[in-house]
Amino acid sequence: MVHSFKYILIGGGVSAGYAAREFVKQGVHPGELAIISKEAVAPYERPALSKAYLFPESPARLPGFHTCVGSGGERLLPEWYSEKGIQLYLSTEIVSADLAAKFLKSANGEHFEYHILIIATGSSVIRLTDFGVQGADAKHIYYLREIDDADKLYEAIKQKKNGKVVIVGGGYIGLELSAVMKLNNLDVCMVYPEPWCMPRLFTAGIAAFYEGYYAHKGIKIIKGTVAVGFTSDANGEVKEVKLKDGRVLESDIVVVGVGGRPLIGLFKGQVEEEKGGIKTDSFFKSSVPDVYAVGDVATFPMKIYNEMRRVEHVDHARKSAEHAVKAIFAADEGTSVEEYDYLPFFYSRSFNLSWQFYGDNVGETVLFGDSSPTSENPKFGTYWIKDGKIVGAFLESGTPEENKAIANLSRVQPPADSLDQLAKEGITFACKI
Ligand code: FDA
Ligand code: NAD
Repeated sequence: MVHSFKYILIGGGVSAGYAAREFVKQGVHPGELAIISKEAVAPYERPALSKAYLFPESPARLPGFHTCVGSGGERLLPEWYSEKGIQLYLSTEIVSADLAAKFLKSANGEHFEYHILIIATGSSVIRLTDFGVQGADAKHIYYLREIDDADKLYEAIKQKKNGKVVIVGGGYIGLELSAVMKLNNLDVCMVYPEPWCMPRLFTAGIAAFYEGYYAHKGIKIIKGTVAVGFTSDANGEVKEVKLKDGRVLESDIVVVGVGGRPLIGLFKGQVEEEKGGIKTDSFFKSSVPDVYAVGDVATFPMKIYNEMRRVEHVDHARKSAEHAVKAIFAADEGTSVEEYDYLPFFYSRSFNLSWQFYGDNVGETVLFGDSSPTSENPKFGTYWIKDGKIVGAFLESGTPEENKAIANLSRVQPPADSLDQLAKEGITFACKI
C-alpha cells in the first residue's frame, strides 16, 4: 500500500516541529501533512540533550521539551499532531528516495508519495571509527545526537559513579558535555587538537576565559593532540585513551564530539549540493521542483553577507522551517514571501555561564569587559570589525536587553572609529545603537 500525502516532511527534529506549527497556522487540512521520523518520539528541542537532560538533579524529560517550547512557544504534544490531522510516522526511517518519481520507501517496507517534500534530516555525528581510530568501537564510547544517545549516556553516568570521563573534541559538544559530566561529579578530561577551544567561533581571548573557568572547576584540558586509539578490558569496556603525543588517559566513559555532517546521502546525485548541503534559494526550494530543504541540511543564500552558507544551529532550524512553509503556501496562492534574511545567532550554556553570538566572526576583534576566569561575576564580550564596520558580537552573561542590543548592532553594522574606544565602552556601545 502506498501512503499518499500532499506534503511530506522527512525528519522529526527541530525543523519538523516548527514546520508543523506553521503548517497549522497556514491552514493545512487534516490528512494533508505527514512527518516521517527515525526517532521514536515527537519533535523536541534537541539542545536540551547536552544540557538539562543530563543534569544529576531533576533532569529534563519529555514531554517537557517538545517543540516549540525552546522559543517560548506552545508545547506540541503527540496528541496535538493527531488533533490537527497531521500523521506522525515515528520509528520510521526513510531508506530510499526517488525525487523524480516523488516516491519514498521506509526501512519497514512502507511506501509514500507526495506532492511537496521538505527534507529536514539534520546532521549525523562524525565517528572516530570513520577515521579508523583503533579500538573506537569499545563499549562506553558515546556520541550525542538523538534522545536514544542521551538515554544511553545517562545510564552510563549512573553506572560509572565518580568514574573518569575523557571528552574528545573542543567544540560545542565538548564544552557542554564536559560541564554536565563535572556536574555529575565525574573526573573530566577534555582533549582537542587545536590551540584553543571552539576555534570556529572563539578568539584566543574568549577561549582563555572558558578554559580558565573549566580548569577552575577541576576539568583537565589537553590541547594540541588527538585520540589515536582506545584499549578495553575483557568485557570490551573502554579503559584507556591513547593520545598522539604518547600520553595515555584512564577512562570509564568517553564522549566524542568531533563534528557533524548533514544527512543528505538519500538524495545524492538527485539534487544540487553546495558546501556539503542541499543548495536552496531564499525560500528553501532545492534544484528539484517541489522539493525543499531546511535546517542543518540547507545551504541557502545568507542575504546579509551575499554568500551561500549552511548553519548547524537551532535558531536557523526553526526559522528556515517556518519560512519554507510560508513560501509553500504563498506559492500555492500565487503570491510570494520576502527572501529569507537571516542574521546568524548561536548560543551555549554551561555551569552558570551563558553566551550569545550574533553576526559574522570575521576581521579584527576587540575584547571588552571582565574576562577573568576567577572573577565572581565575569561578564565580557567581543566585537568583530571588518572594513571599518562592526559585523559580529559575542557576549557572556548578558541581560536580555544587552543580548538584543548585540543582535541589533550586528544587523546595523555601525562604523567602528576607534578600537580603543570600543574596548573601553564595551557593551554600552551596543546599547546606544
Ligand atoms: P534535527 O537533527 O533536529 O532533526 C533531524 C531529524 O531527522 C531527526 O529526528 C532524525 O532522526 C531524522 N532523520 C534523519 N534521517 C532520517 C531518515 N532517513 N528517515 C527518517 N528520519 C530521519 N544549536 C543551538 O543553536 N544551540 C544549542 O544549544 C544546541 N545544542 C545542541 C545539542 C545537541 C546534543 C545537538 C546534537 C545539537 C545542538 N544544537 C544546538 C544544534 C541544533 O539542535 C540543530 O542545528 C538542529 O536540531 C537542526 O534541526 P534539524 O531539524 O535540521 O535537524
Ligand atoms: P563542532 O564542530 O562544534 O566541534 C568539533 C570539534 O572537534 C573541533 O572544535 C575540534 O576540537 C574537535 N576535533 C576534530 N577532530 C578531532 C579529533 N580527531 N580528535 C579530537 N577532537 C577533534 O562539533 P560538535 O561539538 O561535535 O557538535 C556537533 C553538532 O552539534 C554541530 O552541528 C553543533 O553545531 C551542534 N551543537 C550545537 C550546540 C550549540 O549551538 N550550543 C551544542 C551542541 C551541539
